[in-house]
Amino acid sequence: MLSREKNETLCRVEGNAPMGQLMRRYWMPVLSAKDLAAGGAPKRVRLFGEDLVAWRAPDGNLGLIDEFCPHRGASLVLARNEDCGLRCIYHGWLMSAQGKVLETPAEGEDSTMHERITFANYRVAEAGGLVWAYLGPAEEEPPLPNFEFTRYPDTQILHLRARENANWAQCLEGAIDSAHSNYLHSNGIRASNTVGAVTEHGKGEHLSRPSNDGAPKLDVETMPYGFRYAAIRKPVLDADKNKYVRTTLFVVPNASMIPAAKGWGSMQFFVPIDDHNTMFNYVVWKRDGAIDEATIKQYDANMGLHVGTDLDENFVSIRQRENNWMQNREAMMRGESFSGIHGINMEDIAVHESMGPICDRSKEHLGASDLAVIHFRRQMIEAAETFAETGRSPRDLRPAFDYGRLRTGEGMVPHAERWQVVMEDETPEPVAAK
Ligand code: FES
Ligand SMILES: [Fe+2]
Repeated sequence: MLSREKNETLCRVEGNAPMGQLMRRYWMPVLSAKDLAAGGAPKRVRLFGEDLVAWRAPDGNLGLIDEFCPHRGASLVLARNEDCGLRCIYHGWLMSAQGKVLETPAEGEDSTMHERITFANYRVAEAGGLVWAYLGPAEEEPPLPNFEFTRYPDTQILHLRARENANWAQCLEGAIDSAHSNYLHSNGIRASNTVGAVTEHGKGEHLSRPSNDGAPKLDVETMPYGFRYAAIRKPVLDADKNKYVRTTLFVVPNASMIPAAKGWGSMQFFVPIDDHNTMFNYVVWKRDGAIDEATIKQYDANMGLHVGTDLDENFVSIRQRENNWMQNREAMMRGESFSGIHGINMEDIAVHESMGPICDRSKEHLGASDLAVIHFRRQMIEAAETFAETGRSPRDLRPAFDYGRLRTGEGMVPHAERWQVVMEDETPEPVAAK
């Protein structure tokens, strides 16, 4: 459990809240690159409680500025996308990506008022098929995002999104909580008695894993980028010889990495829209070539994040609190579904939202299976408190190393061996316990 005060520190991201200010020191994924056509329609983006508009100019340059026109507040989502900036359709003012008003035609040629006006404008960059934004002070801007997938072309990357009506920490905690997969996702992820028959794309309608152990033992290791943990389960076969290990990374401040099928990778980014809403970004990549249509269709079927049926064009789910996330009680009674909710990711979203926008963590009862969640809270609350005291990001949360080397892993490990042997690649050394 957390005191109300610590819960506020963890969750609040708007205005001057330390957590939001800390998170602004990192690049955040905000759109898919393909959402913004050169000279095309600007897109509304809300981040940390700020309403912004993003666009790609006819020359290909990206911009991210205050959504509301500095004249009298018309939305620039409606603006004309012109060579030098966005032109408001109300009185024709022209706003640049650098936060300058370039023209105020209704004021007459002699007017100089535009020279004294500024408005919010932020850095935007493109990497790994995503558009990223940096909302922190210019002098603290970190290097551009450099994850494994940012080196691949867009054709090898799948970017799924959904808006969650829940605080960012609540959503992220689901991604570092291995035990829930045995229950909430028991229809989408099933035990298999074939060793190695784990997450296979393009085959069957469910994912499988070589264990039906519903009480994993968790082991957490603090790392320079955040932490990693192993969920250790009894395998279906040879439980006397082996343990089944699955590792997950928490990457400060709001990302996680979970194992994917062989030759694939995946990350999740929980980007705060405001205190009560989060954009869930699920990035999946294929290392050796373009992702085919069949795989994309399978993701659509399994995850419950298909735009047009599950989600509207703003990634808002048709399954919401008001309709109990369209839970199918008949399917539960018939034994066809444990949760009664369609799609693995939609199951996650339903439980996150069901807690209310900001969960009251003073009423919780955490157990051994919540070890990674506890570690996450401790790490991020400490970081936000340090930030609030010193005004600086804690040094150990801004490490200088190659994020492109981050990997997860899963597999069978002999009992005598360390679980770390399943990590696919060499990752940075753990940080000594404080
Ligand atoms: S409100 Fe935009 S130009 Fe007047
Ligand atoms: Fe989940």
